[in-house]
Amino acid sequence: MTTIVERHKTLERNVTLLGLAALVTVAIGGIVEIAPLFWIDNTIEKVRGMRPYTPLEQAGRDIYVREGCYVCHSQMIRPFRDETERYGHYSLAAESMYDHPFQWGSERTGPDLARVGGRYSDSWHVQHLKNPQSVVPESVMPKYAFLADRDLDVPDVAANLKALRDVGVPYTDQDIKMALADLKGQADPEADAGDLAKRYPKAQIRDFDGDPSRVTEMDALVAYLQVLGTMVDVNGAAAQEELASEHGR
Ligand code: HEC
Repeated sequence: MTTIVERHKTLERNVTLLGLAALVTVAIGGIVEIAPLFWIDNTIEKVRGMRPYTPLEQAGRDIYVREGCYVCHSQMIRPFRDETERYGHYSLAAESMYDHPFQWGSERTGPDLARVGGRYSDSWHVQHLKNPQSVVPESVMPKYAFLADRDLDVPDVAANLKALRDVGVPYTDQDIKMALADLKGQADPEADAGDLAKRYPKAQIRDFDGDPSRVTEMDALVAYLQVLGTMVDVNGAAAQEELASEHGR
C-alpha cells in the first residue's frame, strides 16, 4: 500500500513524468474511440426505404436553403424521450445521407422538421407559409407568400442531379435524362409522370400549392416538406428488426 502511494508521490512531483503519464492515459481514451472507425466499412447503418430526392423535392430543398429556413429549424430528432414524444422516432444517420449539405441545423426557434412530412395537409402548409400568423397567431415565422407567385425556375435540373451524383447520391442515368420531365410531372396532375413513382418509391405526385395551372416555388417547397422523414418506415416491424440487427442486438 505504502509503496503505491510512494510511487504516486514520485509521479506527482515530477512534472515531465506526470505530463507523459497523462498523455498516455488520454491517448488510450482517444484510441478506443477512433480506432474502430478504421475497421468498419461504413459509419452509416443501412436502412430500407432511403432514396434520393426527386428533382422537385430537391428544388424545394434548395429553396429551403436559399430562404434560410435552417436558421430557425433543425432537422435532427435526438434520442431523448421529450424529443421523440414530440417529433417522432429519433433521426437515423441514413436519413440525411443524401443531403448535401445536411440540414441538421443548430437552432430551434421553430420546431424540428425532420419528420414533418405528412403531418399537415398541403393546404395547411401553403396557408402557413403565406401567413404563419393566420394559423399560429403567436408565431414569429416570417411570411413567404411570394413563393406562390414565382414560377419554379431551375436553370439546369440534370446538372444538379449530376453534381449530386458526383458526391455519392445514386441517381441513375435514367433519373438524369428524365430530370426536367420529373420536375414538372410531379407537380402537375395532368401531366404523364411516366415511371417517376417507380424510380422514386413513395414519391407524392400531385399539385401541391393549390394552383394546378403552373409549377411554382411553393409547389417545390411543400413537396420537400411533405417527404421529410417519410422515406424510412421507422415504426414498422421490418425496420425495427433491421435496426436491431444493425446494432448487433
Ligand atoms: C425566424 C424564425 C423562422 C424562420 C426563418 C422560419 N420559421 Fe418556420 N417556424 C418558426 C416558428 C417559431 C414556428 C412555430 C410556430 C408556427 O407554426 O408558425 C415555425 C413553424 C414551422 C412549421 C410547422 C412545424 C410544425 O411541426 O408545426 C413549418 C413546416 C415551418 N415552420 C417551415 C418553415 C420553412 C419551410 C421556412 C423557410 C421558408 C421557415 N419555416 C422559416 C420560425 C421560423
